[in-house]
Amino acid sequence: MKKNLGAQLALYPTPLTVIGAMNGEKPTWTLVAHVGIIGHDRLLVSLSSAHFINGVIKKTNRLSINMVSEAILPQADYVGSVSGNQIDKSDVFDYETGERGTPMIKDSPLSIECEVEDIYKTEGFESFIVKFSGTYVDENDITDEGKINYRTMKPVLFEFPTYEYLRTGDVIGKCLSLKKGK
Ligand SMILES: Cc1cc2nc3c(=O)[nH]c(=O)nc-3n(C[C@H](O)[C@H](O)[C@H](O)COP(=O)(O)O)c2cc1C
Repeated sequence: MKKNLGAQLALYPTPLTVIGAMNGEKPTWTLVAHVGIIGHDRLLVSLSSAHFINGVIKKTNRLSINMVSEAILPQADYVGSVSGNQIDKSDVFDYETGERGTPMIKDSPLSIECEVEDIYKTEGFESFIVKFSGTYVDENDITDEGKINYRTMKPVLFEFPTYEYLRTGDVIGKCLSLKKGK
């Protein structure tokens, strides 16, 4: 039996990311778990309208999405606890600049350079619809076949209801190879 808990944000866990954008000469960073995939060529980054980074993103129309691994979780957690409106977060991560000028966290295993295509507004939120142009992956997390290896990368996951970080689990099967149940 399932109990109906009413209208709840319940679609978890989600991957945890740090969004980066250039604020003039300096980067700024914000922790964001509400990210998604639209079709096969666009991503979505959902940001509260009050955040500092929104205005920064709008200046250049570019942002980077940086996957959070366990190694950078403490710094990632920090950039989710303070706002660039009050505190300069530019030196929290070492970064390199991508081909399109976005700041990419050196210690993040996967960084995606994105260009903003549209902003979908809902009450209190701006969801940035972005197209990606570059996917920068740590060489240690690329298989011999040239694929991204999420087993070694171990992206950190997030869930809202208990506000916790989760470790990525084990592989339980190859897609489209499982026998139909009953
Ligand atoms: C685990 C975690 C996940 C978060 N996910 C989001 C998110 O998906 N969208 C969002 O707008 N804020 C999210 N936040 C809140 C922002 O990271 C936080 O308010 C940050 O200080 C805003 O920084 P800024 O004002 O410099 O942009 C999250 C915070 C935490 C701790």
